Amino acid sequence: MAFTIKVKVNGEWKTADVEPEMTLLELLREQWGLTGTKLGCDEGDCGACTVLFDGKPVNSCLVLAVRADGHDVVTVEGLGTAERPHPLQSAFEQHGAVQCGFCAPGMLISAKALLDANPEPAEQEIREALAGNLCRCTGYTKIVEAVKSAGRAMRSSVK
Ligand code: FES
Ligand code: FES
Repeated sequence: MAFTIKVKVNGEWKTADVEPEMTLLELLREQWGLTGTKLGCDEGDCGACTVLFDGKPVNSCLVLAVRADGHDVVTVEGLGTAERPHPLQSAFEQHGAVQCGFCAPGMLISAKALLDANPEPAEQEIREALAGNLCRCTGYTKIVEAVKSAGRAMRSSVK
């Protein structure tokens, strides 16, 4: 039996009919075409599927779509555009924090949650916030530098 749900996605309410076992990740990618959110391990280990759920980062492969009914979800598509990138997206590009790019959407979402809650995080806090996001390529140093840099840019833009 399918359930009809309504979810606020990247600022816009959307409706879907979902089966009880469908995950939020499947709903985002397969029904709504939001393929920026990646399917990696499908069991909560890699963080590639991270989205904001009512402002908090979650692994969307572990959240049932029906649980999102009435909630607010932000995916990487909601951060910025090619013309108007989010400061984190600009910083990741400038610092070479993206290689194959598979982890980047989840990293960006986790980093956004961190900077929204803590605009001036210490390096250790950045590393802890990104601990659930695995990267096979970069060694993390450039990612951490990019998050620091984006934090500086965001702080200076609100002064
Ligand atoms: S795909 Fe969800 S944590 Fe890996
Ligand atoms: S850039 Fe390739 S997994 Fe992170």
